[in-house]
Amino acid sequence: MPMKKIELLLEEQQNYFMRESFNTLRTNILFSGKNVKTIIITSCMAHEGKTTVTFETARNLAESGKKVLLVDADLRKSVMVSRYTKVRGIAGLSQVLSGQVSINDAICKTQIEGFDIVFAGPYPPNPTELVGSPIFKEILDEKREQYDYILVDAAPLGLVIDAAVMASVCDGAILVLNAGSIKYRFAQSVKQQLQKSGCKILGAVLNQVNHKNMTGSDYYAQTGIRSEMIHDGAEADRAAAPARQQARSAAPTKKSGDSQ
Ligand SMILES: Nc1ncnc2c1ncn2[C@@H]1O[C@H](COP(=O)(O)OP(=O)(O)OP(=O)(O)O)[C@@H](O)[C@H]1O
Ligand SMILES: [Mg+2]
Repeated sequence: MPMKKIELLLEEQQNYFMRESFNTLRTNILFSGKNVKTIIITSCMAHEGKTTVTFETARNLAESGKKVLLVDADLRKSVMVSRYTKVRGIAGLSQVLSGQVSINDAICKTQIEGFDIVFAGPYPPNPTELVGSPIFKEILDEKREQYDYILVDAAPLGLVIDAAVMASVCDGAILVLNAGSIKYRFAQSVKQQLQKSGCKILGAVLNQVNHKNMTGSDYYAQTGIRSEMIHDGAEADRAAAPARQQARSAAPTKKSGDSQ
């Protein structure tokens, strides 16, 4: 059966900082090593920007010629399907992990060549159990042969354990930190939880940075992301450091009008 094809609703123009930041993030991922193919993205709290970062990074990688599978594994409150498409009732990960649907029936092709997505599917009553099922690992093992990268969007690890459960079978993890709103110690404890899962922490993405505060110029007053990807074993303290640094100097800026 041919794969389903869906039309993504894409933001027209990203600002300069967003574009540059996602280019940098892509480059950092490309330099993480050839064994880093399955990457989980999580955060401390809700609304820090995991889905935005995961989606735009997947899109950026695909537009640069990579074959990417985005797995929407926030089985608790994902809004990916309603935010990025007009389609409803697509089979998703919760049905795959509970054995109702095959993974190939849940993968959707998009209008962007090389960018495929598995949406979360209906909310299940047992999300942690499902993401910990052997089927999740089997999917990653099978699909890593067919894709250059698999990006997994997870629920916030500071609130629920699901991301650590999935991280234990991923090659790398990225922590998204909302600039200014996350306390250093909280970021440290979430980072340690990720480390306990045995997953390599690739780095942190500092999201919703107010560039006005970074440049001191009104002209550059934009929101954007800044990525801090660390490639060696010394990542531990540095991954959370941007939160501390930013908390001193920048106020978070938020886009409005996005229903959750
Ligand atoms: N860099 C940014 N600049 C402006 N707005 C942003 C940025 N990153 C995220 N947002 C907005 O912030 C809101 C939360 O982002 P997003 O849904 O990506 O976070 P999340 O961590 O996935 O949230 P959840 O925990 O609910 O899954 C959205 O309205 C999104 O459009
Ligand atoms: Mg999300």
